[in-house]
Amino acid sequence: MDVFRFERVTKAPLRNLNFSIQEKDKVMIFGPSGAGKSSLLFLFNRLSDPDEGVIYLQNQPIIDCPIPTLRKRVGLVLQAPHLFPGTVKDNIKYGPSLFGEWQEEQAEQLLDYVQLPMALLNRDVEDLSGGEKQRVSLARTLANSPDVLLLDEPTSSLDYRTAEEIEEVLECLSQEHRITLIMVTHNLKQAERLGDKGFFMMNGEIVESGDLQDLLYEPTTDALNRYLDE
Ligand SMILES: Nc1ncnc2c1ncn2[C@@H]1O[C@H](COP(=O)(O)OP(=O)(O)OP(=O)(O)O)[C@@H](O)[C@H]1O
Ligand SMILES: [Mg+2]
Repeated sequence: MDVFRFERVTKAPLRNLNFSIQEKDKVMIFGPSGAGKSSLLFLFNRLSDPDEGVIYLQNQPIIDCPIPTLRKRVGLVLQAPHLFPGTVKDNIKYGPSLFGEWQEEQAEQLLDYVQLPMALLNRDVEDLSGGEKQRVSLARTLANSPDVLLLDEPTSSLDYRTAEEIEEVLECLSQEHRITLIMVTHNLKQAERLGDKGFFMMNGEIVESGDLQDLLYEPTTDALNRYLDE
């Protein structure tokens, strides 16, 4: 089943987007700065809505899904961790609490997923390092048990080692929990490690899409050829 389907979607600066994403796909979105990658990501959980065209989530128009339910099913992790003031626990229980679903024993499992020690549970998030904050941010999103995870350059502000650990978490989520990953990255090595499908974007359009290996090693458009040469 299609998890997402875009039909003739336009939302400045994005133009005429037509594609579908299947369950368990690992889609890597890449392209030059200003191409519209973040703008595209925001359409998937209605941080913005199309001017024209229709987006379907699991074959229903996305606008028919109540926003809290949508954002539970389709989680977003940004480059800069977005945490509320408070403790690690305050942050990770927030989403499930909205639905009356928080259980204390989830905390250990969530911290374990993102490879953080339980000792951090009652620590104020202000006192965490950048890498720790990013992991809490991921744990908070995972607390909702999303079907789809949207990631906007989640490791680009982290050191190499921390970035690798986050990649491991994503790999595990994809393999063991069958989450659909839709990730923006500037790092083509990272894209290759994590992804199976690719969208190459430029000037608000998806210029080339398909199997990621094909995109990286047998690009068919001049634009992608030039981008890969740089
Ligand atoms: N509402 C809007 N209407 C028109 N253009 C917009 C709007 N919002 C953002 N833009 C422009 O759209 C372009 C794409 O922005 P976006 O943030 O999606 O790019 P990006 O591919 O994520 O870039 P980066 O790699 O730098 O993060 C930018 O030139 C931005 O200034
Ligand atoms: Mg961006």
